[in-house]
Amino acid sequence: MPVLSETSPLTIPLLVAAKGGEKIAMLTAYDAPSAALLDAAGVDVLLVGDSVEMAVYGEPNTLSATMDSMVRHSRAVCRSVKRALVVGDMPFLSYQTDTARAVENAGRFLAEGGCAAVKLEGGTRSLPAIEAILAADIPVMGHVGLTPQSFHKLGGFKVQGREPETALQIREDAKALAAAGCFAVVLECVPAPLAAEITREIAVPTIGIGAGADCDGQVLVFHDVMGLTRDLRPRFVRRYADLSSIIEEAAKAFTRDVKSGSFPSAEESYAGGKPALRRVL
Ligand code: KIV
Repeated sequence: MPVLSETSPLTIPLLVAAKGGEKIAMLTAYDAPSAALLDAAGVDVLLVGDSVEMAVYGEPNTLSATMDSMVRHSRAVCRSVKRALVVGDMPFLSYQTDTARAVENAGRFLAEGGCAAVKLEGGTRSLPAIEAILAADIPVMGHVGLTPQSFHKLGGFKVQGREPETALQIREDAKALAAAGCFAVVLECVPAPLAAEITREIAVPTIGIGAGADCDGQVLVFHDVMGLTRDLRPRFVRRYADLSSIIEEAAKAFTRDVKSGSFPSAEESYAGGKPALRRVL
């Protein structure tokens, strides 16, 4: 019984109610035009991810994201969305230093960015910040497994939870986040059986990325899905379009037309006359 597909706009209680039923589709979005397209296509949740640093700014990891930049991207996304729930991703050092700062920064995503919720990384270690943010009535999405802001500690982007001790830690972390009141938990790059077990054990939706088919929802990075990333192609990404080739072909055709003089044509140019009497567009 679909609770999400037929509802507009989506709300946190509706997403929680979808647990174990209709799957949740989530993609990252960083700008107004692509967010409008994803929203119109029926994507349930748009994550203004700190992956913007890698996907848009060409950085090697997500650590360079700042509050100002994340809030600005959030605002662009929220302006063009009618149905999807928009979640803002709290950047590195925006919630780890002290809880008051964490609440203020989380609040900026709602007050300035227009988001409905924030996401932050870490399990039990992030609980003080999560509890403080939740106490300010700001909905929180948790994120465990591969936490990209721990890039240097983890030694890169690697599957987590393959050993019994790390699997247990991830399970405990996910349970602690759900018990604290997170409305959903992202499980990133963990073995599918572990993700399935966590999904059965917690009362809120799990959203997987590289975590198998049994999660309550799936999230991927926009640029990966649309074929805009060329070099890095993780195993869990399915490409639904090849925009790189389309853009490259279009850019080649534009360059060819400029150099041959066939662009612009007379129809693409303005005629002379009395400027005041002519429409500009
Ligand atoms: O920033 C991001 O895109 C993310 C997703 C990978 C979950 O955190």
